[in-house]
Amino acid sequence: MKLEGKVAVVTGSASGIGAAIAGAFAAEGARVAGIDLRPSRCAISLEADVTDEEAVRGAVGAVVERWGRVDILSTNAGIAVRKPVDELAAEEWDRVMAVNLRGVFLASKYALPHMGSGAAIVHMASVVGLMGTRNRAVYTATKGAIIALTRNMALDYAGRGIRVNCICPGFTRTPLTEKLFADPEREARFRALHPLGRLGEPEDVARAAVFLASADAGWITGVALPVDGGFTAGQAADI
Ligand SMILES: NC(=O)c1ccc[n+]([C@@H]2O[C@H](COP(=O)([O-])OP(=O)(O)OC[C@H]3O[C@@H](n4cnc5c(N)ncnc54)[C@H](O)[C@@H]3O)[C@@H](O)[C@H]2O)c1
Repeated sequence: MKLEGKVAVVTGSASGIGAAIAGAFAAEGARVAGIDLRPSRCAISLEADVTDEEAVRGAVGAVVERWGRVDILSTNAGIAVRKPVDELAAEEWDRVMAVNLRGVFLASKYALPHMGSGAAIVHMASVVGLMGTRNRAVYTATKGAIIALTRNMALDYAGRGIRVNCICPGFTRTPLTEKLFADPEREARFRALHPLGRLGEPEDVARAAVFLASADAGWITGVALPVDGGFTAGQAADI
C-alpha cells in the first residue's frame, strides 16, 4: 500500500473526482478526512464551505485533534460557470474565484502548519488552465491561477520537505460535467478532443493523485500534470 498510515485531507470529497481520490487514498491505506458542503464517505466527514475561513480552520483543526497531523492535502472543491467575460455577473466571478481559489488558499493555509517533511499537496487544476477554452472565462482563470500557485507553493515549502503539485484533468465524467455529455452528439465532440478516444473517469485522475501524494513522486514538486487522454498534446484531428 502506497499511503499506509498517512493522514489525508480531501476537499470536494462528496462527489466526482474528490470522492474518487478519497476512496483511492483509503484503498492505499490512508486515513481520510473529507471536507465538503455535503457529507462524504470518509472516516471523518466534515461539512464546511471551503470559502469560509473559520469553517476551514475548524475542519482542519478537527482532523488534527483526532489524528495529530496532516500528511496529504488534496484540494478538489470546485464550481464552474460557462460564460464569456461580458456576460458574467460580478457576483458569479466572485463566487467561482472564492470556491476554486480562495478555498485552495484556505485549505492550504490551515493544513500547512500541521504538515512535516515528506508531506504532499495535490491541487486540482484543469487542462483549461493550460490551454484556452471558449466560454469559461472565470473558471479558466482560477485553474491557471492554481497552476501558478502550485509552482509558488512548491518553492516556498521545498525547504520543509513538502511537495506541491497539481493535476490538470481533461474532460471527466462527473456530476459537474454530466449536462455537457447528456447529448450523444455533443459527447462525441468532447471525446474527439481527447486523442485516446474517450472521456476521463474520476478513477483516472485519482490514480494520478495517489502517485503524486506517494513516495513514488518523492522527487517531483511544482509540476502541473495533465491527465487528459492527450488533450494537451495538440490538435486531435487529422488535418
Ligand atoms: N469533471 C471534469 O471534467 C474536470 C476537469 C478538470 C478539472 N476538474 C476539477 O476537479 C474538481 C472536482 O470536480 P468534479 O468534476 O468532481 O465536480 P463535482 O461537482 O462532482 O464535485 C465537486 C465537489 O465540490 C463540492 N463543493 C463545491 N463547492 C464547495 C464549497 N464551497 N465548499 C466545499 N465543497 C464544495 C461539491 O459539493 C462537490 O462534492 C474541481 O476543482 C473541478 O474544477 C474537473
